[in-house]
Amino acid sequence: MGAGKVSFVIVQLFAFFTWHAIAQEYVRMGSNTNAAEAMQFLREYDREASGMCYRVTMSQWRFVTNITEYNRRRMLEELALNSKFERLSWRKAAAYDATRVSDVQSRRQLVKIVQGSRAALPEDKFNEIQQIITEMKEIYNAAKICPYGQKPYDSHLQRDSPFYPQSRQEPYDQTRSHSQDIYQPFGPGFPHETPENSNYCDMQLDPEISRILAHSRIESELVYVWKSFREQTGPKMKNRFMRYVQLANQAAVSTGYSDAGDQMRASYEDPSFRASLEEIYNQVAPLYKQLFTYVRRKLIQRYGERVVRPDGPIPAHLLGNMWAQNWKSIMDLVMPFPQAPNIDVTSEMLRQGFTPLRMFQMAEEFYTSMGMKPAPPEFWRGSMLARPAERSVQCTASAWDFCNRIDYR
Ligand SMILES: *[C@@H]1O[C@H](CO)[C@@H](O)[C@H](O)[C@H]1NC(C)=O
Repeated sequence: MGAGKVSFVIVQLFAFFTWHAIAQEYVRMGSNTNAAEAMQFLREYDREASGMCYRVTMSQWRFVTNITEYNRRRMLEELALNSKFERLSWRKAAAYDATRVSDVQSRRQLVKIVQGSRAALPEDKFNEIQQIITEMKEIYNAAKICPYGQKPYDSHLQRDSPFYPQSRQEPYDQTRSHSQDIYQPFGPGFPHETPENSNYCDMQLDPEISRILAHSRIESELVYVWKSFREQTGPKMKNRFMRYVQLANQAAVSTGYSDAGDQMRASYEDPSFRASLEEIYNQVAPLYKQLFTYVRRKLIQRYGERVVRPDGPIPAHLLGNMWAQNWKSIMDLVMPFPQAPNIDVTSEMLRQGFTPLRMFQMAEEFYTSMGMKPAPPEFWRGSMLARPAERSVQCTASAWDFCNRIDYR
């Protein structure tokens, strides 16, 4: 091979990985400068991606509204097909030089396909990171803990302890009329709670653990379920997570970012993203600090200064939610003006015989009265508005877009 040919190869390599500033973000783009070809690719991609997204979303819908092993397998198959499609599309999109596309929308679409993806990884590593994500989700979803009140935790706590009766009188959310939704405190002395029972260590995040965090006011029980859930998830995920970070960073670097965080922030298309967030935080901080201090004071009144330090952070297990992200479940502890009228309309709605369907129809009337478009027929035909009695489903409220501009549920 002559020296001329070697330098030609080097020039080619550099041409393929040139760096271009697009929307103030650096992303590695290819060398194909044929804008018409790029536009043709985008038209095909739009059609194929919409079809792929419909299939994946439908398989996910079938699974969460009817949890069976068969539906789970079908969903995983569709997700695998989708990964293949994503990789293929990424390779096609990354071959174009988006700076040569004059149409702003198309240029942005091209960059979007390339910049958010991990498809820059070699195939084995791309499959590995997908597999790791699936495994981590399964560990999280399958985590089970034993009920509170057994060795080695608080075996001394008896039913007649002054703390026990309180949890039994805990008001539960009246809108959850389904019997299996009612929170029941676990502990020694209740039926079916001997370690011999096969269902004994069978408490899952949803519904049992979430319900305890929301409704129990026994600090030792709260800290027990919070820690036990972490013990059942964290150690099993640790090595997988570290490998995930490694692969995600590698994918980001191959796409033209400094690391995975840089890649994730790029999707906001704000070159001063950190500064913008800082500014918003500074606006909210004074209110947040007051709110935080107020809630901490109320929690000290309930649990005492040995549990909640008056000058420190609030322990996460006291806020009514596994991630301390939503504090609505401790409303009863922090509600100001207890003498103010109760605005909870649940009992009145029950008296009037409201059904889930009637609630959705009323919401529809409200939004259309403001001039918004009515929900499409697919919404009313396809949505699952109430928990079906005869099969296992995931009943958390969620909004679905089936990617075909018709079906929304
Ligand atoms: C639930 O899924 C199973 C397949 O596992 C299917 O046979 C059954 O008809 C589905 N039930 C409903 C109500 O869709």
